[in-house]
Amino acid sequence: MKEKDVSRRSFLKALSKGTAAVVATSVIPSIGKVSANTMENGKLAILGGKAVAPNKVFPQWPYFDEKMVQRVAGVIRSGKWNRIDNLHNGTVATFEKRYAELLGVKGCVATGSGTQSLHTAVEAMGFGPGDEIITTPYTDPGTVAAILSARALPVLVDIDKESFQLDPDEVERKINKNTKAIIAVHMMGQACNMERIMAIGNKYNLKIIEDACQAHLSEYQGKKLGTIGDIGCFSFQTSKNICCGEGGGIISNNEKLLDDCYTVQNHGTNRQGRTVTIGTKYRMNEFEAAILLEQLTRAKDQFEIRNKNAAYLTEKLKNFPGLVPQKLYPGTTKGSFYLYTMAYHKEYFNDASRDVVLKAIAAEGINLSGYIKNGLHREPWTDNIINRRVYQTMYSEQRLKDFKDQLTLPNCDWVCDNMVMLWANGPLLGTKNDMDDIINAIMKVHENRDQLKLITSI
Ligand SMILES: Cc1ncc(COP(=O)(O)O)c(C=O)c1O
Repeated sequence: MKEKDVSRRSFLKALSKGTAAVVATSVIPSIGKVSANTMENGKLAILGGKAVAPNKVFPQWPYFDEKMVQRVAGVIRSGKWNRIDNLHNGTVATFEKRYAELLGVKGCVATGSGTQSLHTAVEAMGFGPGDEIITTPYTDPGTVAAILSARALPVLVDIDKESFQLDPDEVERKINKNTKAIIAVHMMGQACNMERIMAIGNKYNLKIIEDACQAHLSEYQGKKLGTIGDIGCFSFQTSKNICCGEGGGIISNNEKLLDDCYTVQNHGTNRQGRTVTIGTKYRMNEFEAAILLEQLTRAKDQFEIRNKNAAYLTEKLKNFPGLVPQKLYPGTTKGSFYLYTMAYHKEYFNDASRDVVLKAIAAEGINLSGYIKNGLHREPWTDNIINRRVYQTMYSEQRLKDFKDQLTLPNCDWVCDNMVMLWANGPLLGTKNDMDDIINAIMKVHENRDQLKLITSI
């Protein structure tokens, strides 16, 4: 066993003994001699000390190999670049079949992005001006863009500070007679509280759209995320764990709804070639699907590796109150770990700002960062829509005033300010040693937190 393993264990043991005191006083108890880094080189790397993991390189993302290159080359040579050129046997059609099989659902409709998938779902379900859809402010702008593109009203509710997910109590509080759906977003690829959200949906007769854009293959109470609500939407944008540059997919067990989605994303033209409704052109092309078909061959193995590494990090951090891993709801068996996230508690780092600590950890060789800077309730679209004719026509003056007044969402603000994340797509495919380096870099900075005040150039 390496010296640094022994010392990290003794650190965590000492830490766990002191947990009660930690909670009560917000001060980590003195733990004496701890790690090799402290003893041999207690100076933080940012101040000139020796780094824990100099020149650290994690597995790169996106993943590709020669077979993928050849498959894309095959599409180029075929001259069939558009899904319509090979409607039933092309790469898009094949990907749709494989993805539906992988998730155990009746079908999939591929699109050009996660945002397009979500917008297609909203349109296909018939939601539009005058309707309200509840969702989280702590998400990618694409979630809200899908609602706005249909000129419906996105109603943002606060999140849970520990899981970083939509708070079901807040959802229930914001339901009114115009509420038609909830977009349940599975942030970081972990389930939001689907048990409660499905119960609320049933109680108020609301549709549930799962934004599983980050949640490929994730499981909750024995079901894959995206298969629990009425419809599930995925993103295959480059950073996602199954990716092709830009891409999206819609899954459901409701074949009529899937057909309607196909029609909407095919400029309102159905599978029989009749232009029957409002739609836009959101079709995935054959190159994107060729890449995805190759990504699928590795996706399950990569998913297992990320889960194993995430469980290891969480175990190592379990008694460390300075960085608290995302809380998972009961029934969460496996997550996609699009990101591995933790909440930063500055009281355990001598009140140093998150950015100072992240800079110090980066100097040790490990790049962690914040995630979403502002919740979507803090972005200017909220003023833009209340000044638009369509919103002023379809919603009362009082409703638009309440919409604005109800955008004080303190938990979301706190999470934006205190989130710390590790990109998990590539880094969580690393080795156990890589995971140890992450923990050791964090612990070294924590052990030497007295030095953080010397860091001034932030
Ligand atoms: C939770 C969530 N929803 C929606 C989207 C939008 O997906 P896309 O970027 O493919 O349009 C993303 C993408 O990052 C996302 O993370």
